[in-house]
Amino acid sequence: MSGKGDGTSGHPAGHPAGQGAGASRHPLDPLSAAEFRQAAAILRRDRGVGETWRFASIELREPDKAALAAWQPGGAVQREARVVCWNRSDGRVYSATVSLTDDEVTSFARRTGVQPNATLDEWHEADAMLRRDGRMIAALADRGITDLERVLFDTWTYGHALVPQEHRSRRMGWVDVWYRGVAGGNPYAHPVNGLHPLVDLNRMELLEVGDSHHVDPPDTMGEYAPRLVPGQRLRADVSPLQISQPDGASFTLTGHALSWQKWSLRIGFNYREGLVLHQVGYHDGGRTRAVAHRLSLAEMVVPYRDPTPDHYRRTAFDIGEWGLGFMTTSLERGCDCLGEITYLDAVLHDTSGEPRAIPRAICVHEEDNGVLWKHVDQAAGAEVRRMRRLVISCHATVANYEYLVYWRFYQDGSIECEIRATGVMVVTNFPPGRQPPYGTLVDERTYAPFHQHFVVARLDLDIDGTQNTVYCSDSEALPVSADNPYGLALVQRDTPLRTEQQGKQDYRWSTQRYWKVANDSVRNGLGTPVGYKLVPGGCFPAMFDPRSPVIRRAEAISHALWVTPYDRDERWPCGEFCTQSERDQGLPVWTARDRPIEDADIVLWYVFGIHHVTRPEDWPVMPVDTVSFWLKPDGFFDRNPALDVPASPGHGG
Ligand code: CO
Repeated sequence: MSGKGDGTSGHPAGHPAGQGAGASRHPLDPLSAAEFRQAAAILRRDRGVGETWRFASIELREPDKAALAAWQPGGAVQREARVVCWNRSDGRVYSATVSLTDDEVTSFARRTGVQPNATLDEWHEADAMLRRDGRMIAALADRGITDLERVLFDTWTYGHALVPQEHRSRRMGWVDVWYRGVAGGNPYAHPVNGLHPLVDLNRMELLEVGDSHHVDPPDTMGEYAPRLVPGQRLRADVSPLQISQPDGASFTLTGHALSWQKWSLRIGFNYREGLVLHQVGYHDGGRTRAVAHRLSLAEMVVPYRDPTPDHYRRTAFDIGEWGLGFMTTSLERGCDCLGEITYLDAVLHDTSGEPRAIPRAICVHEEDNGVLWKHVDQAAGAEVRRMRRLVISCHATVANYEYLVYWRFYQDGSIECEIRATGVMVVTNFPPGRQPPYGTLVDERTYAPFHQHFVVARLDLDIDGTQNTVYCSDSEALPVSADNPYGLALVQRDTPLRTEQQGKQDYRWSTQRYWKVANDSVRNGLGTPVGYKLVPGGCFPAMFDPRSPVIRRAEAISHALWVTPYDRDERWPCGEFCTQSERDQGLPVWTARDRPIEDADIVLWYVFGIHHVTRPEDWPVMPVDTVSFWLKPDGFFDRNPALDVPASPGHGG
């Protein structure tokens, strides 16, 4: 079976693995299976949420910073859930907060003019409905397709402006139809071009068959599983490689609290961001110094840059519409993760509010990463240290694509966030003649449209406290002058970002721009402010005409960096409700107030990703495309903090 969110189990879980019996509750622990059930039950009991309703999302309402700071281990834990639900029969949408501690609804508000996130249940129900519909069966038969078992209906959502006028008040899906060339084959190898049914997801009925044109399928080979690749012979010269830690890994996971060498943090998980890292600190000088309050991926926007009939609707908000958490798949030891692995299970929910388990959702392990530092001295000989890193990762399958998320912590105080994109590209067939110019030829009369994957990381940094300032840092080469006769002089210009308007930043290659987050009231041993720098990676411009209705839904991607003052309710850069949205209700709306961000509790929104100009080598399954950005200490320490890393056993010292 293929589809969004494959590889997950339908069985509700008890406690996630790793949440040891001795671990006490923490206010940031993700909701448990019982808490999901309780949140739904309270709304059914007190607000008449009945049979015709769906739960779009249920998540922990995290305490704000002040409440967290005041909380002591072992203290009372106030548990609150935030819920979005809607009534299918009238389309009315509500967002609610529910106190799990007090067993009551604390708010219940109608939200007008919005559609909640798309759900897996709707995706599966639409598939089941379409394969029963006589009109669909007839349209497929017209194309010679009679084996429905080999058809895949992949429902997408889309933007308000692209929905036909007469359907705009409905909850809409448009559907891609794919066909497996052989049983168990790759459905995405065979697009059923020109066939895009439109579905009312609330009534769960077919509105239009959407049969616009027909392309005679070319004879292609798009299989990647070795048993289906004709004549495939596997290389025979790959010897076993094993990673072993005979004394166990060097991290400690207690409940959701993780500590490794000098790092400490908490692991969170929700339907939308998936993996969340809380309270990231570094032990230094006998205390834990704050680095980040919360790190997550808050949005992913994937516009396909192909205006042809099969593709113009194809802009996915993989986080805002579908949810990186909902799409998270179970990991396999020895395949996804190598070495001494600890897994954390996750629990989410279905649209009836029943818990749904994702076993082995999050992987924690250590990796060797080559040399950390080295010098060979003529007299003293060599000093060399190997680099170890702690990796926290999870994988999401969003229909044809896989996103692999890695947060890595290093011994020199650096943090790296890496995204790997893999899976199967969308391809399309064209009639004999000229190929449309919006993609790359990958097989006979088959091209893969160009597209972009914009990821927005929400970085709530707290460098040695909450009062931080972001500086834009540019290198400037000075002109030749009396002081600079050879034109060598290079200076670094740090410009404080004082307001949200100034906080809208673009990357500048010509000055090797980066952004530094400093705490001007805390000084290092050199007397300069402590700080971390955001080292940009994977930055690229959005490249949209401002008149495009697509960019209006995702204005957040039009800058590499945004800075806002902390507000626990400002979480979604393209707005809370991206599904069928018309305008971006997130960053552009918040920052229009132009609030002060200097010497303030601030949040950075970093936009990066993959400008995917497709290659033949990306077909039929993509070797991972990898992008990352770094957070590196910049004056946070007085010198290399990894001088104390011991030499490998039997060497140096
Ligand atoms: Co891509």
